[in-house]
Amino acid sequence: MQTHLRGRDVIDFQEWTRDELETVLDVAFALKRDRALGRPHPYLRDKVLAMLFFFSSTRTRASFEAGMAQLGGHAQFIESRSTQIAHGDTAKEIGEILGRYNDGIAIRNVDWGVGNTYLREVAEASRVPVLNMQCDLFHPHQALADLMTIIERLGDPRGRTATVSWACAKTYSKPLSVPQSLIMLLPRFGMNVRLVHPPEFGLLPDLVDQARENARRAHASFEVMDDFDAGIKDTDVVYAKSWGATLTTSDEAEEARLVAAHESWITDARRLATAAPDAIYLHPLPAERGVEVTDEVIDGPQSAVYDQAENRLHGQKAVMALTMA
Ligand code: CP
Repeated sequence: MQTHLRGRDVIDFQEWTRDELETVLDVAFALKRDRALGRPHPYLRDKVLAMLFFFSSTRTRASFEAGMAQLGGHAQFIESRSTQIAHGDTAKEIGEILGRYNDGIAIRNVDWGVGNTYLREVAEASRVPVLNMQCDLFHPHQALADLMTIIERLGDPRGRTATVSWACAKTYSKPLSVPQSLIMLLPRFGMNVRLVHPPEFGLLPDLVDQARENARRAHASFEVMDDFDAGIKDTDVVYAKSWGATLTTSDEAEEARLVAAHESWITDARRLATAAPDAIYLHPLPAERGVEVTDEVIDGPQSAVYDQAENRLHGQKAVMALTMA
């Protein structure tokens, strides 16, 4: 149990030690138990979190805001259309000024080549912790909720296999941040990770190398595959979601053509049946039903997507209680 986390930023959990992450998990499960028992836990009474959104959100906004209320504090919703955060206010000004009003600054900025740099610039200028609500590179609080769900459903994750796969989706080009945070976090808890994607949908090579190194240190395995069926076979966790061909092309029409060429990458009952008998299906949501995943799978008994979404609340409350108290 680590007791020195007050003031720490969460840009990505790669910057946190395994001991520190164990502390977050421990507190998150304790807060989840307290909520189930109706036991109040106002660890952040009178504290305020600024939530800056440069991109839309359902779960992230709702869970951070509910979490602050349950911890006895308040969350300010500040979004780019009705404020000056996307034009005029610099990252330094945001860090300096909102750091003086608030006890934490949470930010979602998924603009490619911009988001992570912006968060780090705000953090540099801020006297209070900066929490990443998803940037172009990482979505740490999603990965934390995913790990909690795996532990709840499968028990000790060591030696289990997680398939982090690309899946087809047609609405918009999604950030690389969810798979990048996942492939780095899961091996640190002893999981064997298969990263599966068509060649054109690669992740940042430095982060893939980091994931491989994390696996080596944890005596786990890490494989990159390009066959969806082979990637799912005998796995314990099927985590298949869409992301953009960001490293291959910036041309929207070309990306749409690449997506269309891989329409068969849908998680369906036939594929899920080839996974381990107790395998779980995860997706951070929103999912494109009928394109990324069939209704039968996402609504089926192996789907843990609602527990996964719920765990956003408990994991983030643990982070906020530990860093903002
Ligand atoms: N999973 C997730 O981050 O959902 P939102 O985009 O709705 O916040």
